[in-house]
Amino acid sequence: MRLSSTFLSLSTAITAVLAAPSVNKRAACSSAVTIAQSENPFSGRTLHANAKYREEVETAVAAITDSSLKAKAAKVADVGSFLWLDTISTIPSFEGYLNQTSCEEIFGVVIYDLPGRDCAAKASNGELATGQLSTYKTQYIDPIVSIIKANPNIAIAAVIEPDSLPNLVTNSNLTTCQSAASEYREGVAYALKQLNLPNVAMYIDAGHGGWLGWNDNLTPGATELANAYKNAGSPSSVHGVASNVAGWNAWIKNPGEFENTPDGQYNKAQDESRYVQYFGAALSSAGMPNHFIIDTGRNAVQGLRLEWGDWCNVKGAGFGVRPTETTGNSLADAFVWVKPGGESDGTSDSSATRYDSFCGKDDAYKPSPEAGTWNQAYFEELIKNAVPSF
Ligand code: BGC
Repeated sequence: MRLSSTFLSLSTAITAVLAAPSVNKRAACSSAVTIAQSENPFSGRTLHANAKYREEVETAVAAITDSSLKAKAAKVADVGSFLWLDTISTIPSFEGYLNQTSCEEIFGVVIYDLPGRDCAAKASNGELATGQLSTYKTQYIDPIVSIIKANPNIAIAAVIEPDSLPNLVTNSNLTTCQSAASEYREGVAYALKQLNLPNVAMYIDAGHGGWLGWNDNLTPGATELANAYKNAGSPSSVHGVASNVAGWNAWIKNPGEFENTPDGQYNKAQDESRYVQYFGAALSSAGMPNHFIIDTGRNAVQGLRLEWGDWCNVKGAGFGVRPTETTGNSLADAFVWVKPGGESDGTSDSSATRYDSFCGKDDAYKPSPEAGTWNQAYFEELIKNAVPSF
C-alpha cells in the first residue's frame, strides 16, 4: 500500500514535469546573441509565442463552450506572434515578456508610436500628435532601446512603424500625411539608428503588393524606405522589409485576387511572392537590404474583399500559415504572424472618434471594437476558417 502510493506520487510528479509548458523547459542563451546581416535571423529560431497574446487567447478559450472549437482555440496560444508596443505605457511590460524567450527562439516586436500615426486613416490614430517627435525619441524609442541593451542574450526581430512610410508615398495628398511626413522620416531613421544592436534584426514596413506593388509605386516606395535606411547610417541590423502586416494578401495566387480587374495591368505584384520579386528588385536598386518577412496571420481565405485596399476586419478571414522560416523563396526570411489575430483593426461604431468608414464597409466584420482590442467572435471565425486548420 505504502509502496504503491509512493510510486503513484512519483509517477504523478513525473507526469507533471513532462506536462510543464515548454517555455519552462528551454533555457535562454548563455551568451550574447549576434545576428549577422548576411544571416536569416529566423533560421534555427522559432518565433516566440509571447505571453500577452497567450493570455488573450487563454481568456478567449475559457469563453468558448463548443469542445471542438475550444480545443482548436487552445492551440493558437502556442503560435508565435509579434508584440505591439503601441503606446509608451506598454513599455514597462516589454521586458517581462521579452525575457521568457529561449535560445531556440526569436522575439517579435512591433515599433508603432510615431507622431501623427495612421495619417491616412482614423482607426489607429496614436497618442502622439505631430510636433511630438522629441517625446517619441526620448520617451518611446530610448526606453525600448535600454531594455534591449539590458537583454543582449535574446534574439529580436523588430517591425518598424507599419504603414508610415508607405503612406508618405501614396497619401501625400492628405494634409494629415503632409504634416506628419518630416517626423515620420526622422522618427523612422532615429528608430533604425538606435535599434541597430547586435541581437536585433529590423524589417521596415513596406505595406503590401496591393499598395507599393503598383508599377508606378515600386521605385518611389523603394526610394522612400531606402532614404530612411541611409539617413540612419545604413544600419547593419536592417535586413529588409515586412509586408502584408495586418494584411490579407495571399503568398501565391494565380491569377491574383484583383489581377483580372481593369486596373490589374498596372500592378505586377498581384500576390506577396510577386511583391517580394518586384519590390525586392526595386529595394536593391535603391541601395537597401531586400529580405522580407511576410505576415500570414490572417490570409488563409481569398476573394473576400470588395477592393484591394480594404483593410478593416475583413469578414470571413482565417488564420494562415504558421510562422516558419521555410518559405521556398531565398528573399523571404520567414512567414510570421505580426497582427495578433483576434485583435480588432478598428471600431465599427460610427459615432466613435476613431471610426473609419473602411470599418463600416460591407466586407468588414461588425460589430468590431476599437483597434487593438479583442473581438471574440472574430477570433472564433479566424479559427473556423484557418488554413491549415487547427
Ligand atoms: C492598433 C494597435 C494594436 C495593433 C495590433 C493596430 O491596428 O492600432 O493599437 O496594438 O493593431 O492589434
